[in-house]
Amino acid sequence: MSISGRHPASYYTTIYRLVLPQMLTGKGEESGPQFVNLADLEQMARDKLGLMSYDFIAGGAGAENTIKANREGFDRIALVPRFLTGIQDVEVSTIVLGQTLEMPIYVTPMANQGVAHPTAEVGTAMGASKAHALFVTPTGSTKSLEDVAKASGDSPRWFQFYFNKERKVNEDLLGRAEKAGCSAVLMTVDLPVLGLRERNVRNQFALPTGQSRPNLESAESPPAFRDLGSLVAGVKADLSWDDFEWTREHTPLPVLIKGIVSPEDAEEAVRRKAAGIVVSNHGGRQLDTGLGAIEALPPIVERVKGRTKILFDSGVRRGIDVFKALALGASAVGVGRPILYGLAVYGAEGVTAVLEHLRAELVNTMRLCGVNRVNGITRDFVRTNPNS
Ligand code: FNR
Repeated sequence: MSISGRHPASYYTTIYRLVLPQMLTGKGEESGPQFVNLADLEQMARDKLGLMSYDFIAGGAGAENTIKANREGFDRIALVPRFLTGIQDVEVSTIVLGQTLEMPIYVTPMANQGVAHPTAEVGTAMGASKAHALFVTPTGSTKSLEDVAKASGDSPRWFQFYFNKERKVNEDLLGRAEKAGCSAVLMTVDLPVLGLRERNVRNQFALPTGQSRPNLESAESPPAFRDLGSLVAGVKADLSWDDFEWTREHTPLPVLIKGIVSPEDAEEAVRRKAAGIVVSNHGGRQLDTGLGAIEALPPIVERVKGRTKILFDSGVRRGIDVFKALALGASAVGVGRPILYGLAVYGAEGVTAVLEHLRAELVNTMRLCGVNRVNGITRDFVRTNPNS
C-alpha cells in the first residue's frame, strides 16, 4: 500500500486519528481507538484485563531479563538518516516467499488469545485482515484454525506448528492448515519444554472457563485442559532436526523455523532447506537471560548470506523498531503482545489500530531517513554501536 502525496488522506487520517489525536485537536475523537503509543495501550489493557490475564500476556521466563534485553537491544541501535533525497512517496509493501505483503509487519502466533478478548483469534484475524497484514494462526488457538482462516478473508495467513509427539496429530494439523488456505508453516522450535514463567505460577494461570484449544481436541492428542502445561503436553520433548525434515516432507507448504538465535542453527536450517527462519526468542517467554533478539539478528544475517529468508520478532513496540530490524536484514517483522493489548481494549478494531499505528510510524521513519521502499532500508541507516 502506498502512503504518499497521492493518498494524503490515508496517511494523515492515520497519523491524526491514531497517533496524535489529543495533541492536534485538543480533545481527541469521540470513538475509535485512542493512544499515542503502544505503551499507552499496554497500560489501558492492564487496567481492563485482570492481573492473571495481563500477566500471562506481558510476562516472560524467570526474572524476565530476556524481555529487558529485547528492548535494550533496540535502544542501543542508532539511526543515521539521509537528506535531500527528493523522495516523497513511500511504499511499504514487500514480497516474502513470493507473496505480496502490504506491509512488512505481521501478527506473530500467540496461543490462548481468548484470555485477551472473547473474540480471541477470530477477532485478531479480522483486525489483521482489515489492515491487510499477514496473520499467523497458532496451534494453541482458542478458536479452530478453520474459523480463524474464515475470519482472515482474502488476507494472507500462515500456520504456526508445534510438532506433536503423535505423528498422526501432525499429519492432521498440517493437512487442516493447508485446506484452510494457510500459505506457509512456521514451525516453532524453541519450546521443547515450557519456560519457567513465574507470573503464571504465582497467579495459577488457567484459561477462562469455557475456553479450550479446539485444534488439539479433534485429533488423537491429549485433551486440551485449561492450564498451560496441557498445551505443551503434546509437544515432542526431544524435538530434533529430523522432525523438521519430517515436517518439510509432509506438507507442500514452505516451512520456516521460528525461534532461531544462533548462527550455527541458522546454518543448519539452510543445510536442511528451510524456506526461512524467524530470529526470535519467543518474546522472552522461554529462556531467561537469553540474548536480545535484535542483537542475534546481524550475525545470523552475515552467516546466512541470503541463502534463506530471515524474519524477525521479539520486542517490537514502535515503527522505528521495525525499521531497525529491516535495516539489519529481516524481510518482515512480527509483533506479539501489543496486538493482544489492542484486542483486549478495542476488540478487532484495536488489532487494526495497532498495525496501522506501526505502519504510520514506519512510514514516518522512512520519510525522515530518506528512503521510500522496504528494499532500500539497508544497514547503512543503522549504527549498532553508536559510541564507536
Ligand atoms: C506467544 N508466542 C508464541 N509463539 C509461538 O510460536 N507459539 C505460540 O503458541 C505462542 N504463544 C504466545 C502467547 C502469548 C500470549 C505471547 C505474548 C507470545 C511468542 C510470539 O510468537 C512471539 O515470538 C513474541 O510474542 C514476540 O515478542 P513480543 O512482540 O511479544 O515482544
